[in-house]
Amino acid sequence: MLVRKGLIPAAGSGTRLGPFTNAIPKELLPVGDKAVIEHVVDAMHLAGIEEVVFVVSPHKHGLSDYFGSGKRFGIDATYVVQDERKGLGDAVLAGEHVLDETFTVVLGDNFFAPKTFLKDLIDFHIREKADSTIGVAEVEDVTRHGIITPSGNRIIDMVEKPPVSEAKSNLGALGAYVFTPDIFDAIRNTKPGYKGEIQLTDAIRLQIEEKKNVLYNKINGIHIDVGTPKDLMHANDWYLTHDSE
Ligand code: UTP
Repeated sequence: MLVRKGLIPAAGSGTRLGPFTNAIPKELLPVGDKAVIEHVVDAMHLAGIEEVVFVVSPHKHGLSDYFGSGKRFGIDATYVVQDERKGLGDAVLAGEHVLDETFTVVLGDNFFAPKTFLKDLIDFHIREKADSTIGVAEVEDVTRHGIITPSGNRIIDMVEKPPVSEAKSNLGALGAYVFTPDIFDAIRNTKPGYKGEIQLTDAIRLQIEEKKNVLYNKINGIHIDVGTPKDLMHANDWYLTHDSE
């Protein structure tokens, strides 16, 4: 089986990176010589992804100005609109009409190195015949991630941003996933959770309750969630002082 499609959520508000984000989506802020989201597109291209679905907010044309048809980046670009910022689950659901086969999701404001991380995650998903695969790593701050309860390579529970005292492990979702279209039903059945948003974590939890094959795979290397000016500086500092690939 080949995984040919990817989705990149990029419809958030980026308030922590204001006032830049009044003018442009945060995903277009630079890490080195390219936008942070272009590093994600590179990783998808490297993993064999042919079509990338960008989830964008209404009236913001920055992403389509940057990527256009996608040809220059080696991919076919499709744009879908998330009408309101209602959470990551809702952002993924916005791509349902174009995602009729197994697909990967990587957050558009996350920087990973080396870029082979995504190919490894997809290969694992195919090899293990998973329904959903969540990329995780040992995280310092459990209150910033979806935290899993592992058993072998399965996930038996997952909670979004738990308080430290309730975290069942320090393995946190990093913002890279592989799903089958089955995830859309789970999202539709998911009620607003943390911060009143439709959380992807809660949809994955529903799949676990339905005894779906929900697995995790460790992502090695560098991961920086570019959410604040400090994170942006950190990502640039790392990129500009290391071999860029
Ligand atoms: P964040 O949690 O960083 O939210 O989203 P945000 O709105 O972008 O930033 P702040 O909290 O206001 O500073 C993680 C990723 O998911 C996307 C964002 O664009 C970002 O790439 N996202 C989040 C969506 O596409 N839609 C949503 O409803 C929420």
